[in-house]
Amino acid sequence: MADKWWKKSVIYQIYPKSFQDTNGDGIGDLRGIINRLDYLEELGIDAIWLSPVYRSPQEDNGYDISDYQDIEPMFGSMEDMEALIAAAAEHHIKIIMDLVLNHTSDEHRWFQEAKKSKDNPYHDYYVWADGEEGVLPNDMKAAFGGSAWEWVPELGQYYFHQFAIKQPDLNWNNEKVRREIYDMILWWMEKGVGGFRLDVIDQIAKEPEQKITANGPRLHEFIRELSRETFQKGDLVTVGEAWGADIARAKQYSNPDGSEFSMVFQFEHICLDQQPGREKWDLEPLPFVKLKQVLSRWQTGLHGCGWNSLFWNNHDLPRIVSRWGNDGEYRVQSAKMLATVLHGMQGTPYIYQGEELGMTNIKYAIGDYRDIETLNCYHDRLAAGFSEAEVMRSIYAKSRDNARTPMQWNDGSEAGFTTGQPWIAVNPNYKEINAAAEREDPDSVFSYYKKLIGLRKTLPVIACGTYELLLEDDAHFFAYCRKTDTQELYVICNFFGDTVTLDIGAVVPAGSGLLLCNYPEIADEALFRPYEARMYLY
Ligand code: GLC
Ligand code: CA
Repeated sequence: MADKWWKKSVIYQIYPKSFQDTNGDGIGDLRGIINRLDYLEELGIDAIWLSPVYRSPQEDNGYDISDYQDIEPMFGSMEDMEALIAAAAEHHIKIIMDLVLNHTSDEHRWFQEAKKSKDNPYHDYYVWADGEEGVLPNDMKAAFGGSAWEWVPELGQYYFHQFAIKQPDLNWNNEKVRREIYDMILWWMEKGVGGFRLDVIDQIAKEPEQKITANGPRLHEFIRELSRETFQKGDLVTVGEAWGADIARAKQYSNPDGSEFSMVFQFEHICLDQQPGREKWDLEPLPFVKLKQVLSRWQTGLHGCGWNSLFWNNHDLPRIVSRWGNDGEYRVQSAKMLATVLHGMQGTPYIYQGEELGMTNIKYAIGDYRDIETLNCYHDRLAAGFSEAEVMRSIYAKSRDNARTPMQWNDGSEAGFTTGQPWIAVNPNYKEINAAAEREDPDSVFSYYKKLIGLRKTLPVIACGTYELLLEDDAHFFAYCRKTDTQELYVICNFFGDTVTLDIGAVVPAGSGLLLCNYPEIADEALFRPYEARMYLY
């Protein structure tokens, strides 16, 4: 396991709908990704996590799949998919498919059959409860608002959905469901994909009668069977999305014996700026010392016995530079600082499209939002008595559409994303923030990410070293040390916008060399300017 390729890799997430359009319909497509492989190779990434491109009515932008073995026509064809896998390989990039196995679209053939009658062979592919119209089986709520139960009058039954009404949950207790899924995965493996990301995998073993969703009793039994029947037959990277994972569970998910997944993708650090026990829309300032503790606990907790994903962003999360950095005066410095904190750690870093440019959040009028979760939140919260201003404040801060604005390629029309009308409006700051400008600029966020990726490949201490948090209770610095027998890496970051001083000699051993800094030069070693980040090597 020590020499697994993905332990030194950096993964780049593409949200295809917003990446690059090639036919002017305003929707990104597979050909668009092929056209941008040079850019990705230049950045230095090893694999692409491709958000779903399967056949889908797009109720939840592809996380509602109606056919796992077909490509959604708006993204292209199966030939385009095969061409992408092949072209990516020429650029030394693997393709990681997004597997949504907790639920399908209600337009999937299985569900169409399932709701025909209780004795249809597919009926038991989904999760049902007998009942009466208007009398819900219990009070469980769906993640996107409303009840988790939906009435089907023809059957006199409710079906269970943890997400949208059009995303009925699959019944993993049914062995036939599991078998179908394994066959489908093996079919994709034959096509030469490099791995899989497992969407909300912690929720597959639900037991709705007992109100259990995440971490159901049979969860790890199912995952081990899934892994044995599929992934273990190839040299794949697999990553399980698990909102509910703690360290003990993460060790199971990413057991070095390979019995489950390669790594876990958990969210403890990224949920810290919300009120505990409430929804993500219930904002709270980031508790900085807590953030350090949480990230550090995961570093030491999984060292040698598990593997973590490192991320600030994905297609569900707001842009980190707007969230915990500064997207005004210090946008470039703070984007680099946040990258430094993360890319010095152990694990597999994920870069979400546009993060490497320091792309920022958006403030749309409500009519310009597209995300089902955001729109449901808007209506539900207004109905619950929140003021319009309060609701919009939450949406500006947390809407998933912050991540879904089109990729900013250049300063031309629609940021070079499309020649048509984009499906979601481009962030107006594309004239200033775009890939064309940043590729040319050695001091850009893009150039800095390139360096960080390069360091992971050349310095074993980044991939393998131990981790120790420094200046634990300090309210300004995020500092830590990584060590192997032969190398020591010191990462010291001023996390905020004030200038602060530090007795650097007390933290970094004499004789260390400066490896990286997000300011062009250092006049006074003791002085850390706003968001200043440094790496020293000893
Ligand atoms: C995951 C995905 C999210 C999707 C949900 C339901 O959390 O990341 O985008 O809406 O699962 O599939
Ligand atoms: Ca298109």
